Parts: sequence; C-alpha cells; structure tokens
Amino acid sequence: MELGIQGKIAFVGGASQGLGRAVAEALADAGCRLAICARNPERLQQAQQELKQKTEVLAIPGDLSKKEDVDWIIQAVKAHYRHVDILVSNTGGPRSATFFEVTDEDWQQAFDLLFMSAWRLTRAFIDDMIENRWGRIVYLTSLTVKQPIGHLILSNSIRLAIVGMAKTLSNDVADKGVTVNCIATGMHRTDRIIDLLKAQAVRTGQPIEELEKAFYQAIPARRLGEPSELADLVAFLASERAGFITGTTIQIDGGQIQFVL
Ligand SMILES: NC(=O)c1ccc[n+]([C@@H]2O[C@H](COP(=O)([O-])OP(=O)(O)OC[C@H]3O[C@@H](n4cnc5c(N)ncnc54)[C@H](OP(=O)(O)O)[C@@H]3O)[C@@H](O)[C@H]2O)c1
Repeated sequence: MELGIQGKIAFVGGASQGLGRAVAEALADAGCRLAICARNPERLQQAQQELKQKTEVLAIPGDLSKKEDVDWIIQAVKAHYRHVDILVSNTGGPRSATFFEVTDEDWQQAFDLLFMSAWRLTRAFIDDMIENRWGRIVYLTSLTVKQPIGHLILSNSIRLAIVGMAKTLSNDVADKGVTVNCIATGMHRTDRIIDLLKAQAVRTGQPIEELEKAFYQAIPARRLGEPSELADLVAFLASERAGFITGTTIQIDGGQIQFVL
C-alpha cells in the first residue's frame, strides 16, 4: 500500500531502541526524513547510522522529561527542517510501583516524562501543521489507558491525561488537515518489558520464566507483539491514507484488553 508520505518530516521521540526505533524505521521505509532523540548519545548515534542507510536522519541527544532539553531539541529540529509534519511522541516508561509505593516526587517525574514531553512537543510543532493544512500526531501510550495494571499506578494515571489532551486537541484541528491519535500499546518484545519482568521477579520472588509464562496467559494471542507490528500501525496512522482517523485510541495488544467497547 502506498502511504503517501514520501519526503514528509517526522519527529520520533525515544527512538534509539525499542518501539520508537521500530517506528523510526517504518517511517524511513515510507520515505520520511527523520529527527530522532534519546538520552544516551552513543546508542542514538548508532541508530542514526543504521537509519541513515534509508533516509536523512537528524539525531539530537536529550532528555524529553526536561524542559531545557526539549527546548533545545525543538530548536535543533526547526533549525534543520523548519517544521515537522509527523510527530510521534514517545519516551521510556515511568517506574513500576503500586499506589502505596509512590511519592510526590515520583508523580512529578512521571508527569514531566510522559505528559509534559508530549504537550511541549505538540505545542512546538502544531502551528506549522495547521498552517500547512497537513499534520499527523501519534502518542504512544499503553494498554493501561484502557485496562489499569496494579503495579503501574503512574502509567495508569498519567497516560490517561495524554488521551484526554489528544481527544480534545483532535476536535480543534480535525478540519485543518491534522489528525491526533493515541496507541494503547500492549506487550511488545523490547528491553522495557524485560525490565518490568525483572522488577516483578524481585518483588514477588518468582522465577522470570514463570512470570513470562503467566504473561502469555493474559494475552489471547499467547505471544508478545513485535515492535515492527506496532510500527506498521503508527506508519499507517501517519499516512495520507489515514486522514479520516482522528481522536481515537487504538489498541494493539494481541487481544489482552478485555473491554468490549
Ligand atoms: N514494550 C512494551 O511492551 C510496552 C507496553 C506498553 C507501553 N510501553 C511504553 O512504550 C514506551 C516505549 O517502550 P519501549 O519498550 O520501546 O522502551 P525501551 O526499549 O526502554 O526504549 C525507550 C526509548 O526511549 C528513550 N528514552 C527513555 N527515556 C527517555 C527520555 N526521558 N527522553 C528521551 N528519550 C528517552 C530510550 O533511550 P535512552 O534510554 O538513551 O534515553 C529508548 O530509545 C514506554 O513509555 C513504555 O512504557 C511499552
């Protein structure tokens, strides 16, 4: 299928590994020029080198939870490309914790990481999208926005704020050629998932292999998703073809979410 986004400029957050890296690759395959960021400069540079074989890639190291870094990243992207057509908002996840384990500081950190990064990037890039009468915004969130997970109170709570912002914004810009959607990400094979399993093993004292098996029991597809599968969905939402899809939160989870709506 021709996605119709050859030459478009795409910003992908948290793109040195995992889901963000896979999304960057899918958008590069669709012919987009890329701006990518992550904190660790070496890993980011490695991703840049690999992606450069497919397209132009601007790589800006920085921490999306910090205002000064986000300001610098935005400035660097605008200096290089002037504007962004496709924004994929993504960072690492907040720490795994129950209601009883979190502190004021945890809430603030998670809010800065998940919500403020999404808001600041959107605020910086949306005016040009509106002026150009074309834009695509995709927020990578989590299945926790539809089905909370006990020990992920920070994710359960703050990602819903992104869904609320996305839906509200989508109403304001739908007639201006800009779509705004969220992905409710299910379990995919990345370092993040391995880290969560390790944390759970420490907390419960269960062997990691047992926890992995239990994990699959909760997923009707009985497997993890591949990052490339999620990336294909994002590339479609970012495409010309998806112009009538906006204000949604689309789950990709092998059937794990049990809500019927
Ligand atoms: N994988 C899953 O199954 C799954 C399921 C539901 C939700 N999610 C969510 O989806 C997101 C991505 O997950 P993933 O599995 O791809 O994670 P991952 O493998 O840990 O990759 C995270 C990427 O984001 C970068 N990053 C992390 N914190 C950052 C920050 N503050 N500023 C800029 N870049 C940052 C990382 O590089 P640096 O460390 O160098 O910054 C890396 O490139 C997370 O929020 C996660 O909670 C994942």
